[in-house]
Amino acid sequence: MSSSTTSEKGSESGQATFRFRCIGCGSITPSAAQDFRCSQCGNLLEITDSSWNSHNPTALKSLWRERRTLNETLDLSGVWRFRELLPAPASEEHVVTLREGNTPLYELPQSSRLTGVPRLFAKHQGMNPTGSFKDAGMTVAATFARQAGYQWVACASTGNTSASMAAYAARGGMRSLVLVPEGKISWSKLSQALDYGALTCQLRTDFDGCLRLLQELVRHAPVYQLNSINPFRLEGQKTLAFELLEQLEWQAPDHIIVPGGNLGNSSAIGKALIEMLDLGLISNLPKLSVIQAEGANALVRTLREAGGKNLVSVQAETRATAIRIGNPASWEKAVKVLQATGGACEQVSELEIAQAKAEIGMEGIGCEPASAVTLAGLKKLLRRGFVKPEETVVLVLTGNLLKDPDFTMEFHRGDLFRGTPDERESARLNPFRHPPVVLDATLDAVIKTLEQAEKSNPTPSNA
Ligand code: F0G
Repeated sequence: MSSSTTSEKGSESGQATFRFRCIGCGSITPSAAQDFRCSQCGNLLEITDSSWNSHNPTALKSLWRERRTLNETLDLSGVWRFRELLPAPASEEHVVTLREGNTPLYELPQSSRLTGVPRLFAKHQGMNPTGSFKDAGMTVAATFARQAGYQWVACASTGNTSASMAAYAARGGMRSLVLVPEGKISWSKLSQALDYGALTCQLRTDFDGCLRLLQELVRHAPVYQLNSINPFRLEGQKTLAFELLEQLEWQAPDHIIVPGGNLGNSSAIGKALIEMLDLGLISNLPKLSVIQAEGANALVRTLREAGGKNLVSVQAETRATAIRIGNPASWEKAVKVLQATGGACEQVSELEIAQAKAEIGMEGIGCEPASAVTLAGLKKLLRRGFVKPEETVVLVLTGNLLKDPDFTMEFHRGDLFRGTPDERESARLNPFRHPPVVLDATLDAVIKTLEQAEKSNPTPSNA
């Protein structure tokens, strides 16, 4: 068992052309240590490949589109369909795929009306095989883990990474070790890891504590870490942007808005946008904005208080448990992306998150709380004048509604803010609540309830 990943490892043909580049000092190496940090300056590594720039953009667009009609394993994946701009595995046989990607781009008619932004879309990554955007990155990282011969993969997680990693490890014939904060992740995500066969450790700490422990563990045990500092993950997550642009007929939107936690996803999308611009796939760069929960606002504070130069970590607290992260690992990558694209970084309150989640639910698609920060953030960015109503805006919904049923049930039953400082103010969210009604099993009781509902809300909201 080796403790590094190289572009040559497992490349039977020796043809791999990708390299690892330090985002700090820019040095380039063919191999990466287990912590995916530069051996010279300690900054994070990213993957680069000189062959990516040799493609003809028009030919790529038609090749990718044509693959949507084909039935080959790689073409059926909404990630590997874009393989010309991904690191190439030594052989197709190494690829671990669950047909990830190919996620819908929805219009949001009600939110459009509400915000006054007619061209408002949601790219719903919650429609991936394990219900979150993590699958797009995991298929690539699990493929390279398998190719390198690792038997164990591991991650620290707020729930979605662990669910995804466990699934891809199981598909790829690897064992998986999950470190999650005890009592701080949704049981729905936890149950996925169990069902996919992970060795699941609930640690008495928070996500940041789990990640610290994992960094130590990889130095002592032959496990391959699949957190988002693993640059293969980010390569897979780039495809969200490729697919989005394809869905928009390669007309770049003005804004893409993502939730920010450990900041891998914003880094990946930003990398993809810059690569697409360099290659001529798009002719202008969308602004990528990152939204955090007020209680987990490390990036917001890093930019406001330290000019993006050093990390201001926080003790994270939010009911959007997916982004309950105080010490984001990829903060430097995210700062670079915000600067390169001219995006904004904003924070939203727990009440704003709950309202936005209910509004996205009323669109008939739903999402988990962490994803709803995007709509809440958009409203703030509109108020600030950073986003103009006539612009095209895409919200990235990162997780499925079913990922956090407790949040949804507590919200609709009116319990979400009980005993919190927001309790009194949360009354203004009552119009968004749709609690279940317990009735006798009689026709009369149901008809009366129907009539009452009709009286209190005579017109459906999309009329
Ligand atoms: N949205 C959801 C649903 C997430 O699960 C996460 C992160 C994020 C947004 C933030 O993305 O970390 O790339 O900035 N979840 C990780 C996990 C940390 O372990 O599942 P990020």
